[in-house]
Amino acid sequence: MKKITIGLSVLVLLPLLAMGQNLIINTTNRITKSLDGSWHYIVDPYETGFYNFHAKPYEEDNPNASAAFYNNFHTNDKTALVEYDFDKSPALKVPGDWNTQKTDLFYYEGTIWLKRSFDYKLKEGRRLFVYFGAINYKADVYLNGKKLGTHTGGFTSFNFEITGIVKPKDNYLVVKVDNKRIKEGVPALSTDWWNYGGITRSVTLVEGPNSFIRDYSIQLKKGSKDILTGYLQMDNVAMAGKAVINIPELKIEQSVTYDVNGYGSFEINAGNIQYWSPAQPKLYNVIIKTDWQKIKDEIGFRTIETKGADILLNGQPVFLKGISIHEDYKGRRAYSETDAVALLSLAKELECNYVRLAHYPHNEYMLKQADKMGLMVWEEIPVYWTIDFDNPSVYNNARNQLTEAITRDKNRASIIIWSMANETPVTSSRNKFITNLAHYTRSLDSTRLISAALLTRSENGINIVDDTLGAVVDVVAFNQYRGWYGGNLETAPDAKWFCPYNKPIVVSEFGGGALQGKHGDKTERWTEEYLVYLYKQNIAMLDKIINLRGMSPWILMDFRSPRRLLPGVQDGFNRKGLVSDKGIKKQAFFVLRDYYKRK
Ligand code: GCU
Repeated sequence: MKKITIGLSVLVLLPLLAMGQNLIINTTNRITKSLDGSWHYIVDPYETGFYNFHAKPYEEDNPNASAAFYNNFHTNDKTALVEYDFDKSPALKVPGDWNTQKTDLFYYEGTIWLKRSFDYKLKEGRRLFVYFGAINYKADVYLNGKKLGTHTGGFTSFNFEITGIVKPKDNYLVVKVDNKRIKEGVPALSTDWWNYGGITRSVTLVEGPNSFIRDYSIQLKKGSKDILTGYLQMDNVAMAGKAVINIPELKIEQSVTYDVNGYGSFEINAGNIQYWSPAQPKLYNVIIKTDWQKIKDEIGFRTIETKGADILLNGQPVFLKGISIHEDYKGRRAYSETDAVALLSLAKELECNYVRLAHYPHNEYMLKQADKMGLMVWEEIPVYWTIDFDNPSVYNNARNQLTEAITRDKNRASIIIWSMANETPVTSSRNKFITNLAHYTRSLDSTRLISAALLTRSENGINIVDDTLGAVVDVVAFNQYRGWYGGNLETAPDAKWFCPYNKPIVVSEFGGGALQGKHGDKTERWTEEYLVYLYKQNIAMLDKIINLRGMSPWILMDFRSPRRLLPGVQDGFNRKGLVSDKGIKKQAFFVLRDYYKRK
């Protein structure tokens, strides 16, 4: 058979087209109908609803097969053979992980089908999309038996058009969710967090006119203090046209011409802008108008850059007083605005001006709340530990997740850092992979800083941060666990550190485990006193690093992890939280808070 080889560029293109591209941004401010609520589900470990008995996908071999679950087959014919029935099956709440909703799904990793029926009267000349906040990990989506598409990646938003398929009554939306961990995944087989499966964020129907405002970027021009720049991207325009950007408080009413592809860029002299900052998280009402639509957003304007070892926010040096946060609230996948307010309010109580949203893009409420509450954000894609850096499809996957994260969040002033990875092993293929991701990120967003959580090494008693990637990133960040994964706490304040890069240093993780309420001597691991001592000694050590410009200790709250198994202490939770999974603060919480108060 003729061997077909296609270059990486084509490889890169193909999956992007297959993945949920043409993302619609700012869906909360559009005409929407929520599909959240009760969805029937079928647990399908053998993927019986997808493959026939010879492992051929029904959708390729016999798409209308009644045995294919996406056909949601029903009949009154008593002679018919049908071996599933969504409407007689149990229900899951969407959004929400399945693991913590059903005890028999706690450890489940595999395929679960979910089905939701709905009615929708779509008027002539209007278009309709189904938008998913996130599905972990792989989703195959069908409406009324028609395949809408596939999405890979558990933490980014995607949408499919359903204009020509939706009916006024009895639509059935069927989603095949597969959260199996795979070697070629992003993340791959091993993580230190729970593999929560399911439709883990909201599902929304988004309606718009035949031509609509799909995407836009509006931010301060790099290096400028008063020029706003960006683009508008219309969807399905028949010819070039005009839109208007209105920012009433800045007395801006700017006409923008878009071309036949619906794309229009702009620069606007904005005059005297009140910059966004943690102290003053100013957001402007921004309205984008065309003859056929008006979209509102709230956008902050600020500059972020580095100068030598300093991080400059609006031209002023800033120290990132942070904390790391998982999207895990009281032992389940967080997803709601209430969860976001609860988590970020704890960060504010810690006197933080910054949060590291680990290890993947969080739900959009976290970013919109960070904008409002004045918290700078490190956003990260789950290129975590050992992924298959030699595999082009893994690169495409990581790049697509980065594209979807940046597309959704690029107008959020709170985001100052895009992180490419966490604790990846130093190899040439990893360096190439992440360097390419960094260059790609800069091509999408030239204003924000690039980082990655690196690892350190020690030589002759000196702690060294000389990872090759330090030359690529803007901010050199590293995780270190003195006093937990080795290293003496007593002598920590006298430790020596060396970093060859004259760049800002942020300690992206340090910390240790403590069971809230367990007390004893400060030398006894797992006691709150041990954690207090660990924080005091690590802070004393890190505070001496001359280029230190921030930290985000690990971690705000205890979170579920299948790796943390010590009975009576961990019980399936990583106990490095400053707050327990029950929401109770540990003594170390106040050690960090007092350090930030003094900073
Ligand atoms: C690592 C990793 C975290 C993990 C933490 C720990 O640095 O980045 O994801 O949870 O350490 O060991 O608790």
